[in-house]
Amino acid sequence: MDQQVLKEQVAEAALERVAARHSDRLLLGIGTGTTAECFIRTLPAIRSRIEATVASSERSATLLEELGLPVMDLNSVGPLDVYVDGADEANAQLALIKGGGAALTREKIVAAASEEFICIADASKRVGVLGAFPLPVEVIPMARSHVARELAQLGGQPVWREETITDNGNLILDVHGLQISDPLDMETRINQMAGVVCNGLFARRPADVLLLGTPAGVELVTGSTLS
Ligand code: A5P
Repeated sequence: MDQQVLKEQVAEAALERVAARHSDRLLLGIGTGTTAECFIRTLPAIRSRIEATVASSERSATLLEELGLPVMDLNSVGPLDVYVDGADEANAQLALIKGGGAALTREKIVAAASEEFICIADASKRVGVLGAFPLPVEVIPMARSHVARELAQLGGQPVWREETITDNGNLILDVHGLQISDPLDMETRINQMAGVVCNGLFARRPADVLLLGTPAGVELVTGSTLS
């Protein structure tokens, strides 16, 4: 089945879950990427129930505004009801690799500020061990070479994503060749390197629920059901 169709199916499933489980004055955190964009395009159907959205990137904010949805700064709203976003990889505990779209830092902030994190993805994102997808690390520009050397000491091969400047004015190193058997430990170790703003492991704050698009339909998976 076409991957785009799977993304649209999980986006619709996320909309149904949000509409059924959350209040009538929704404060929504909105992710970044092609799957998150499918979700954004479903939102006009519940426009009257949305009090505000907070976007994890300028790109998502622009699309939300084009659709006439209210976009606010995170500092102007309280905790969010729910965050909906895609992922590059998800493991059995719903720890994720994110940041293929370079929005990892704002994604992690909005996820942390949300009561529930619904991850939406097609079945290709399910993995046993995280790390086949190169791990994005956002770094302060002057620290790029220093952080790259530190990442190499962890056993990875960092590659500078040269064409990319993040929404925060920083750089991205993509770390290839990691087999991440302990995502929480790896997330913590990389965050402790001087010059690192954030890394794309979501283990400290994993997804609560994963809606996985498969040719047989949308699977609702939690940390205990994904294998
Ligand atoms: C954006 O920075 C990422 O974290 C995305 O959520 C991730 O790359 C998934 O993107 P797609 O939905 O486009 O696969």
